[in-house]
Order: sequence, then structure tokens, then C-alpha cells
Amino acid sequence: MSVRRLAKLQPESFTFSADSEKEIAFWLAKYPEARKASAVIPLLWIVQKQEGWVPEPALRAVAERLDMAYIRVYEVVTFYTMFNLAPVGEHLIQVCGTTPCMLRGSGDLIKVCKSRIGEAGAISADGKFTWLEVECMGACANAPMFQLANKDGDHYVEDLDAAKFEQILDDLAAGKAIKYGPQSDRVSSEAHGTTVLTDPSLYDGSRAKPIKLPNTGSAKPAAPAAKPEPAAKPAPAPKPAAATKPVSKTKPKPAPKVKAEPVAATSGGKAPKTLKKAKGQPDDLKRLSGVGPKLEQTLNELGFFHFAQIAQWGPEEIAWVDSRLKFKGRIEREGWVAQAKALAEGA
Ligand code: FES
Repeated sequence: MSVRRLAKLQPESFTFSADSEKEIAFWLAKYPEARKASAVIPLLWIVQKQEGWVPEPALRAVAERLDMAYIRVYEVVTFYTMFNLAPVGEHLIQVCGTTPCMLRGSGDLIKVCKSRIGEAGAISADGKFTWLEVECMGACANAPMFQLANKDGDHYVEDLDAAKFEQILDDLAAGKAIKYGPQSDRVSSEAHGTTVLTDPSLYDGSRAKPIKLPNTGSAKPAAPAAKPEPAAKPAPAPKPAAATKPVSKTKPKPAPKVKAEPVAATSGGKAPKTLKKAKGQPDDLKRLSGVGPKLEQTLNELGFFHFAQIAQWGPEEIAWVDSRLKFKGRIEREGWVAQAKALAEGA
């Protein structure tokens, strides 16, 4: 672990931009008020995306925003190497120097960095590059590699050698787009010289099909219908036996009954507008905190497919939906409506 200190030259102040404020609102909505310090890493990341690095006054702004002690924010930012403690060039090159990459030639990449860019952490004379050596980034099968961070995001560039790396630096310096991922003939991290499973459509996502979700919650009623069968043996028992035959012949009828009970129990709630199916591509509702695949399916079955729908819920609608969920109070506890608003606005 290298020593990480704040840069000597610091700006006098720091202010979050309007875009950053929107992102902060999104992240804070994920945590209860008393646990908002959990958003420290997202907020520091927002600072870095705004400034390109994390200036010291921003640490104070983050600490203030999250009601945290300054030293706690300082500890986090100096621990994680993903945070830049000093300004960096337009393209930040993070070369992996851990054993697999070292054995596959990361030393050659570092030599190129030193000769073309300068010392680690310094900005090149043209302001285009900064390079750093970092620990394993989990792409060892495609060693050696580096992570490129710039205005286009963060991308891995893999299967390199000195010549390819030099060419990439030339292209970046000239403002040309580069290919991310493996710089070899492979698509991902499959073995070199593969003779099977070579069809590119296996990996490029073109075979993925949208999943059709049922519009109504009829899965649960089917389960009670199974009960009559075991009940056939204890037929002498009065009640189960009587229920067996009629139920098995009238499978669809139990369904409305099961749904009818919660509706009656939600006298205080008001049904929100629902859809029979998604308008175009459904939103990934799992992005709401506390929503997993199962809960997303339940929401879809209730007729909710888009963040914009959830963003419109008021207290009455929340009560209506809440009564249909297994764990009560989750919508308000997790702040779904605020999150959905932010996501619907493109956060
Ligand atoms: S060792 Fe370089 S990515 Fe793992």
C-alpha cells in the first residue's frame, strides 16, 4: 500500500455543481437519515467526476453534507486508490503491476509510461496524460492491462505489449477513439486459439431476448389448487374432502378471491395508474434500493414497469401498493418515490 497524501496546492473552496447535486439527492435517498454517512464513497466519486480529482475543500463539503467528522472522510479518500488526491491529465492511465500482469509484461508498459509521460502521478507536458501503477484490477486473464479514465468513463484495455500500448497513447494524444477491452483477437477472456464456441453472437448480446412477464399475479393462486390432491387421501375428514372436488374443477375461481382480500384491507389506499404491459422497454426497477428480482416481478405483476409511474405515487397510492407487498413500509423506508423521480429524470 503506497503512501497517499493530499496535494500541496489546493483550491480555496469547493462547490457542488447542479448536476452533482442531482446525483447526491439520488444517493442520499438510498439511506436512512441516520445512516447517510454510508454515501461517503458515492459523494467522493461525484466530486471526482466533477473536478477530475478530490480537492481538500471538497472533503470538508462532503463531511458537512453527511454529518461526518472530517477525519472519517479523510481516512476514506486516502485509503482508496481510485480517488485522485491531486489533479490529473486528460487521460488517467492506471497500469496494473500485480504479479500476473508483471509476469506478462506490465514492466514494459511502465517503461513506456516513464519515457512518454514522466514520473508516476505527474501530468505530462501537454496536459494529456497522468499514469499510476495500481494493484490487481481483476482482469488477470487478459494481462497485462491498464484502466483508462477520462471524460468517456472508465474502461479496461487488455492483452497489451509495449508496441500496442505506444500506439494507444498516440491515438489518445491525437484525440482518436480507441478500442477498449482485449487488443488481441479474442472477444473477452476466452482462451487464445479457441476452436469451439467461436460465434461472436454468443458474446455480443445480440441473442438476448426481452423476458415477457405475466401481467397478473396468477402464480400464487395455482399453489392452493395443488392442495386438494393431498386432501384426496384424508377424504374421510369432513372439510378438506368437501373442498377437494369443486376446487379442482374450478381452478380460475380461487384467483380473484386471493386478490380480493388485500384490496379490501387497503381501504385507506388509492389504486395508482397501472399498465397492462410496459411502454416499450421496461425500466430496471431493481435499481431502486431494496428491490430484487422477485420484488420487481411483483411490481410488474401489479402493473408497474417504469420509474415515472412510481415517481407519481402519493401517500394514498403508496398505501395501496404497500398493502400488496410482503414487507410493509418498505416503499417509504427506502424512499422509492424520490429514487424513482431521480431515475426517471435520468440520474
Ligand atoms: S494482476 Fe493485473 S489485473 Fe490482476
